[in-house]
Amino acid sequence: MSEKKALNIGLVGYGFMGRTHSNAYKRVNDFFDVAYRPVLKAVCGRDKAAAQAFADNWGYESVETDWRKLVERKDIDAIDICTPNNTHAEIAIAAAEAGKIILCEKPLAMDLVQGQAMVDAVEKAGVINTVWYNYRRVPAVTLAKQLIDEGRLGRIFHYRAEFLQDWTISTDLPQGGAGLWRLDAAAAGSGVTGDLLAHCIDTALWLNGHISTISAMTETFIKERKHTQTGKVQPVGIDDACAFLCRFENGSLGLFESTRYARGHKALYTFEINGEKASIKWDLQDLHRLDYFDHGDDGILRGWRSIHVTDGDQPYMKHWWVPGLQIGYEHTFVHQVADFLENLAKGESTAPTFRDALATQAVCDAVLDSAEHKKWEAVVPV
Ligand SMILES: NC(=O)c1ccc[n+]([C@@H]2O[C@H](COP(=O)([O-])OP(=O)(O)OC[C@H]3O[C@@H](n4cnc5c(N)ncnc54)[C@H](O)[C@@H]3O)[C@@H](O)[C@H]2O)c1
Repeated sequence: MSEKKALNIGLVGYGFMGRTHSNAYKRVNDFFDVAYRPVLKAVCGRDKAAAQAFADNWGYESVETDWRKLVERKDIDAIDICTPNNTHAEIAIAAAEAGKIILCEKPLAMDLVQGQAMVDAVEKAGVINTVWYNYRRVPAVTLAKQLIDEGRLGRIFHYRAEFLQDWTISTDLPQGGAGLWRLDAAAAGSGVTGDLLAHCIDTALWLNGHISTISAMTETFIKERKHTQTGKVQPVGIDDACAFLCRFENGSLGLFESTRYARGHKALYTFEINGEKASIKWDLQDLHRLDYFDHGDDGILRGWRSIHVTDGDQPYMKHWWVPGLQIGYEHTFVHQVADFLENLAKGESTAPTFRDALATQAVCDAVLDSAEHKKWEAVVPV
């Protein structure tokens, strides 16, 4: 392999996503021949001992307790934002002004206005960027994109997606703070809309194009919860569940649902697309399979086929094992880093960019506006 250029990473936040990204940085050069080599230069967390323990475990060279210090450091090339949603904008804008490459977790921002300021900052600074909507890089989902782009589905009539969980049903669960910031509107911006539906929306925009109009409803089943930081029982400001109907610009109809109150479901992300010639279905819990129905098949053989997406001809798979052996969730992050480093070598950002993620933010805002005002809303073009 050729000599690789070092890319010094400064990671902000060492929770769930801090781990998936660190794993991806460490693995990428073992499996993908890209021009850059990520170097785990520094991790930033407010708790020095915990950040140091993370650094020791994952091999980060140094620790910072204030992300501003990390952004100022001359030896950091890229800032990776893995913190709660209310911190993304401030960190990303400062990083852009400091000329850093930026990898930001989703959702891009708390709302469209904030997201627009982030897009303006990265575009003004001309810095390379990406947003971690990682499900695009599940090989079966990338294959779905390929099949649609090849015209195999023909005209699309329906797009259906859901993302179901059950972890917030208990009334005793507090809101706010470590591990529970997703229940606190001040930290999360919204509930399932920004957390879960944002993934469904990003995939949908990528596979099926822009959404024009939306009619949504949301519900907050548990209206008050104790806040871990104030110790007081406070109103819950997030949406616990959300469902929306929409029209895509290509004339197809969309149906989306997400909740954290679907007892028995932990992370059931599924989508189905029905076209004139064929349909496809995908399920995160069986993520290496793509179900495909082709109306062009011989009548006696016609039926749903379950494609085991593990062959070297299929997206990303030639980099892994041998046909028939599948990969998993963590590999989607490795794929994003691999694509990111390949595009970086060409001086390009990697989709979804901040601007792409702003389109998802615009849909999320329209969903929440529609639910609040109980009327159809147009999605603001971005
Ligand atoms: N792409 C995906 O599939 C996916 C999955 C989960 C989470 N996310 C997104 O990733 C982000 C982080 O989520 P998570 O699940 O990793 O959360 P987490 O609670 O596991 O970790 C958050 C980390 O941020 C740190 N943190 C909080 N405020 C900070 C600050 N001001 N300075 C430095 N560190 C700070 C916390 O200490 C913690 O280490 C969120 O935006 C979330 O929406 C994306």
